[in-house]
Amino acid sequence: MSENKASNRMWGGRFASGPDAVMEAINASIGFDKKLYAQDIRGSLAHAAMLAQTGIISAEDERKIAHGLNTILSEIEAGTFEFSAKLEDIHMNVEARLAELIGPAAGRLHTARSRNDQVALDFRLWVKEELQRVDAALGGLLEAFLVRAEEHAATVMPGFTHLQTAQPVTFGHHLMAYVEMFGRDRSRVRDAIDRLDECPLGAAALAGTGFPVDRHMTAKALGFREPTRNSIDTVSDRDFALEFLSVAAICATHLSRLAEEIVVWSTPQFGFVRLSDAFSTGSSIMPQKKNPDAAELIRAKTGRINGGLVGLLTVMKGLPLAYSKDMQEDKEAIFDAAETLDLMLAAMTGMVGDLEVNSRAMRKAAGSGFSTATDLADWLVREASLPFREAHHVTGRAVALAEERKCGLEKLPLDDLKAIHPAVTDGVYSVLSVMNSVKSRTSYGGTAPAEVRRQIRAWRKRLKADATAMKRR
Ligand code: ARG
Repeated sequence: MSENKASNRMWGGRFASGPDAVMEAINASIGFDKKLYAQDIRGSLAHAAMLAQTGIISAEDERKIAHGLNTILSEIEAGTFEFSAKLEDIHMNVEARLAELIGPAAGRLHTARSRNDQVALDFRLWVKEELQRVDAALGGLLEAFLVRAEEHAATVMPGFTHLQTAQPVTFGHHLMAYVEMFGRDRSRVRDAIDRLDECPLGAAALAGTGFPVDRHMTAKALGFREPTRNSIDTVSDRDFALEFLSVAAICATHLSRLAEEIVVWSTPQFGFVRLSDAFSTGSSIMPQKKNPDAAELIRAKTGRINGGLVGLLTVMKGLPLAYSKDMQEDKEAIFDAAETLDLMLAAMTGMVGDLEVNSRAMRKAAGSGFSTATDLADWLVREASLPFREAHHVTGRAVALAEERKCGLEKLPLDDLKAIHPAVTDGVYSVLSVMNSVKSRTSYGGTAPAEVRRQIRAWRKRLKADATAMKRR
């Protein structure tokens, strides 16, 4: 490097050695893409085998290449491999070491390939494996919900709208709402896997290759359903990464909503649940406190994942076809989101599993706030043939009276109710209790314990079917 480059003050500070160092710092991705080493080597092994099979390289060269690649794999796994930023990325680090190990045959590996299809392959493989991990983690979370929902199929609690007591529901039903949410997340994960299940190898730089490659062979060897169809799209497409981040962001949002509920439920004011010591911490100054840190962190970590999604959407939005170096910026957000989501799912699964439920507090709260007012209105419609709007009005007067007397609806004497509307009879009291209210909501998907148990059974069946479907892939 020339003296004047080294002393160029424009580059400043830590780049004392001049523009080459700045270029290296901005250009190199090895710091993070070394995470793709296993996928990179797997891809190269499949590519070399195909090159030999089609007669593009000799069997002898392929043998040497495969041996060298396997040596590199062990070196990386043993921690003895020396990564170099000068060699930019994982692809060139592996190839340079291969040349050291096997000599000129190494130079034949990159025949009919470009780093553009290579990186698209490595990253797809990585994202696919991560989606499979998320799928399994979601399976575990869903199982944990089903166990708790079964246990609490008949535990009443207030159902909320606007976080104001609305109607009594069962805790089992509330938990099953999350089963629906995480069940949708899981189906999004599988959709994403289906869509990305195409092998980029053979698209080369962007135009395909003149060598007689067999793209179906490499696709099959690497566990993809089929090769991609358009070489230009193949090297410029990062939809699979965007989809992973979208799926992760939606799932994190669900985790965050539950985390928020756990934070609220575990306050002394609600007292619906108690967190185990494993998922809470004490305060260093206030001895009485038990803080829901794990739930709070789940809620907070959602921000990183959402940020990653917006970040990559922004990287991609202005890129002309096909590959641009911008796309090297696709990885860190994904790696971080994946690690974050895995951790969030593990923590939530643990919390759901050992949440201590205070059924008494839930039952007490379920009866407050005139939560059975709708039941009274419904009774007037059913038993006294009032139009719903009139029944609503009559019920409103009953609630006002109960509020004035500072008692629950079920405590109002029959004569007072009759004074509000003459059609009221003794029978009305059967619907004013929280348990009867809940039991009456037998509509498909409703909160009646019998219906909740039916939903749980259906989900158990579905999870079994999902597990077999995943194995068959
Ligand atoms: N490190 C690069 C990336 O992650 C690999 C592809 C480089 N391709 C190129 N044409 N410079 O995107």
